[in-house]
Amino acid sequence: MSVHKEVKKVTTHVLQEMKTKGEKISMLTAYDYSLARIVDDAGIDVILVGDSASNVMAGHETTLPITLDQMIYHASSVIRAVDRALVVVDLPFGSYQGNSRSALDSAIRIMKESGAHSVKLEGGSEVIESISRILSAGIPVMGHLGLTPQSIYKFGTYTVRAKEEEEANVLISDAKLLQEKGCFALVLEKIPASLAERVAKEVTIPVIGIGAGSGVDGQVLVLHDMLGINNEFKPRFLRKYNNLYEQIKDSITNYISDVRSIDFPNEKEQY
Ligand code: KIV
Repeated sequence: MSVHKEVKKVTTHVLQEMKTKGEKISMLTAYDYSLARIVDDAGIDVILVGDSASNVMAGHETTLPITLDQMIYHASSVIRAVDRALVVVDLPFGSYQGNSRSALDSAIRIMKESGAHSVKLEGGSEVIESISRILSAGIPVMGHLGLTPQSIYKFGTYTVRAKEEEEANVLISDAKLLQEKGCFALVLEKIPASLAERVAKEVTIPVIGIGAGSGVDGQVLVLHDMLGINNEFKPRFLRKYNNLYEQIKDSITNYISDVRSIDFPNEKEQY
């Protein structure tokens, strides 16, 4: 007997319907079973197993070091937790840029070994062969334009992208290209709100923003950032819904004090 509940699952088709009806899409990252279970039970539409795991789970400065095997490990933990949300998994740096054959191999490994529902990769026309080849195997692809953290050493900074007309025009034509090739949705990261709103109006696929204003079809945040587990990251676009860093630290301080004072365990907490 399955332990998983019978629920109406979010599919790429459901997301498209949400855009058509003007219903906003909610998306958060998750990287492990326990938190993914809470995120899914709360009713999120999309869970992204982001390569931001490289930062928040492994402590790397950038997203570049995380490997395909590590992404598959995180993705399979999340998949075991999820009953309802659509699960999207990032293709890590180096697993799709080289050639479309290796991009397809990477995407197939993610789908087969983790049970994920779709993949996401960063870039526009420069990776379009890889995107097309993955799509031709029946794997749904989410695009990602604007600030693309895997290219941080090219950009040199994490500041807002596409403020100038030239870069904005490239972004608009890339968004249209991704739609034309068959991507089911698109993430726009850290670009002016007016540009993001224009893209969301000019393409028919759902556009999910992070630091891209409210004129798009949905929002995504990194779970650890919005829960306040990570105390140091405070960009302007981030709304913190909790301060778990302090709450977890207080709980641990109390535990240490109870152990030291032999208050824990008490009579009811032993056999
Ligand atoms: O890896 C990630 O968490 C992401 C989001 C910031 C969109 O790509």
